[in-house]
Amino acid sequence: MSRSDLIRCPRRLPLVAPSILSADFARLGEECRAVLAAGGDLLHLDVMDGHFVPNLTMGPALCRSLRQALPEATLDVHLMVDDPELFIDPFADAGADSLTFHVEVVRDPDAVCALVRQRGMTAGIAVNPPTPLERVLPWLDRADLVLVMSVNPGFSGQSFMPEVLAKAEAIRTRLRPDQRLEMDGGINARTAESCRQAGCDLLVAASAIFGSADYAAAIESIRGERVAARG
Ligand code: DX5
Ligand code: ZN
Repeated sequence: MSRSDLIRCPRRLPLVAPSILSADFARLGEECRAVLAAGGDLLHLDVMDGHFVPNLTMGPALCRSLRQALPEATLDVHLMVDDPELFIDPFADAGADSLTFHVEVVRDPDAVCALVRQRGMTAGIAVNPPTPLERVLPWLDRADLVLVMSVNPGFSGQSFMPEVLAKAEAIRTRLRPDQRLEMDGGINARTAESCRQAGCDLLVAASAIFGSADYAAAIESIRGERVAARG
């Protein structure tokens, strides 16, 4: 199975993606190895440009370093930038496995998904809390995953917005079994349960994992199930 098959494969066991935004950046390699050993399925990289969201974080250089250090890791890149098309080639070259862009900033999501896939990555479409369902509906069948934001993006550590659950449920009913429904923002053991009930099968968490003293317990509580430990 290739790294991006993890996203495409039609199993309903929820995947957990630790977001490295809450990792200790001075010990990033070690932190990433620890969350993967603790059962994290993908590493979620939050890329922010200071325009689409009011924060600056990481770019292709960091992705490339992680790819070199962790050849087996699935790297799930979440672009919170005004012009995602500029970053398809740089992240493909840097070894990203999945690239998600926001529907709010793209005129033709179909074309962007095609470009992302041409570069060998799975394509995700993200939708912010205030953005209506109708904005994303026409493009659902084009994406490998749909990311419903459960906070206004920009920072980790914000509170989950339960009002997005209805949007997630409505999207889930329209997805094929090989498409993932990802939720991101304010996810912890408690809020993860409502996400799973809404049909989400890829759960991102930063502070609930990296802020915990026991990464494995935090990941298991978000997944809602125990899985066999990795070697
Ligand atoms: C928010 C980012 C999230 C964030 C989640 O803008 O897209 O991935 O890191 O952080 P928590 O899990 O702490 O809400
Ligand atoms: Zn994210």
